[in-house]
Amino acid sequence: MAQSGVETHCIACRVFTFDGSQNGQSLLVSIPEVLDPQYGMYVWPCAVVLAQYLWMRREELRDKTVLELGAGVSLPGVVAAKCGAKVILSDNAQTPLCLENCRRSCEANSLHDVQVLGLSWGEISPDLVQLPKLDVILGSDVFYEPQDFEDVLVTVAFLLRRNPKAEFWTTYQERSNDWSIEVLLHRWKLSCLDIELKTFDADKPELAGSTLPGNHSVLMMIITLKTDDI
Ligand SMILES: C[S@@+](CC[C@H](N)C(=O)[O-])C[C@H]1O[C@@H](n2cnc3c(N)ncnc32)[C@H](O)[C@@H]1O
Repeated sequence: MAQSGVETHCIACRVFTFDGSQNGQSLLVSIPEVLDPQYGMYVWPCAVVLAQYLWMRREELRDKTVLELGAGVSLPGVVAAKCGAKVILSDNAQTPLCLENCRRSCEANSLHDVQVLGLSWGEISPDLVQLPKLDVILGSDVFYEPQDFEDVLVTVAFLLRRNPKAEFWTTYQERSNDWSIEVLLHRWKLSCLDIELKTFDADKPELAGSTLPGNHSVLMMIITLKTDDI
C-alpha cells in the first residue's frame, strides 16, 4: 500500500467509553484518526467489537502480555493496555505511517511503555522471532484481503507454536459469502471457536458510545493450536 504524508491530512480524535454493568467501572479512550481513506488510518467496526470483548475480560488481562497484529490506530491494544496488560502493537513494517498511528494512539492515552513494532504478516523477521512470551494475540479486521489470509495465519501459527497456551482473539467483518479461512485453519493445524456477540454485550449497532458497528456483520473468533499439537 502506498503511503502519503500524514502532514497533509487532518487528525481528529474519536472517543470511546466502555462501561461496567454492575460495578460502575468505566474506561474512556481517545483514538486519533487520520482523515485519509487508507487502511490503518481510522477505527474499523471490528475494532470496537474486539475492544468490547477485551473490556468484558479485563480482569484476566492484568499483567498478561498481549501483541496486536495489523493494529492501525490500535483501539483494542489501547484498551488492553488500559486494563493492565503489557502490550506490544504492530503493523506492516512497510507502512511507517501505520506505525506512527500506533504511537499516536498510545500518546493520546498516556501509555508510555507500549512497544511498537513493524511486523509484516507471513514474514519470519528478527523482530517476530525476538518477541517475548505471549498470552494473547489480537487481530481486528485483519482478514479483509483474501490474498493475505494465509500470511496472517502463517504469522499466527508461528506465534502459537512458540506460545502453545496463547490464544488469537480476532474479529472479522463479513464482506463476501465466498471468503473463508476454514481450509487454511486446517492446513496450519489451528482450531477456531466462534464467540457469539451477545455473550459479551456486543450484539448492538452502538457500542462504547460509537455507532461504528452499525449494521455491519462482525464475527468474533478465538483461534488456538489444535490440541493434539500442544
Ligand atoms: C482493515 S485495517 C484494520 C486496522 C485496525 N486493526 C482496526 O480494526 O481498526 C487492516 C490493518 O492491517 C494492516 N496490514 C495490512 N497488510 C499487512 C501486512 N501484510 N502485515 C501487517 N499488517 C498489515 C494495515 O496497515 C491496517 O492497519
